[in-house]
Amino acid sequence: MHVTKGITVTGFGLMLVAAAAVTVFFLARPMAGGQAVSSGVAQMIYQHKCAVCHGSDGEGHTLKGRKDKVKPLSKMIKKYSVPQMVSIVEKGKGAYMDSFSDELKPPQIDAVVEFYRSLCHCVLAKK
Ligand code: HEC
Repeated sequence: MHVTKGITVTGFGLMLVAAAAVTVFFLARPMAGGQAVSSGVAQMIYQHKCAVCHGSDGEGHTLKGRKDKVKPLSKMIKKYSVPQMVSIVEKGKGAYMDSFSDELKPPQIDAVVEFYRSLCHCVLAKK
């Protein structure tokens, strides 16, 4: 009985530590005009504005993704760095990837790119 309780409390404690770490991570980023964006908000932005083309797993296996030739994240993550992806989301690319700088603030773009990249469960080649 006691042991079970102990484990639950430890588990909860770890969750708090993880949540705090995530918060610190986002707070520590430079913020150009705006508040810190939590990973939950980044996920919401992604689901609303990006998943229709990039898919909820980032691989672009959506109707629109196929039509607009969205490339799979597992390939693109090896091609583009974080700043390059941020720049593409800010400025747009090609005929179908829109510029989001009118809709999203810089910290939101940073956070949504971070979230997008986190969808990739691929193992990154170490250089
Ligand atoms: C209308 C469909 C559409 C929507 C909506 C869309 N994208 Fe894209 N995106 C594309 C296409 C198509 C490309 C490939 C452009 C190219 O390389 O010519 C692309 C490319 C990208 C890239 C470059 C690297 C890669 O993975 O291909 C990033 C990063 C990206 N999109 C992020 C986002 C984010 C973040 C959002 C939401 C804020 C978003 N996109 C919304 C269609 C879309």
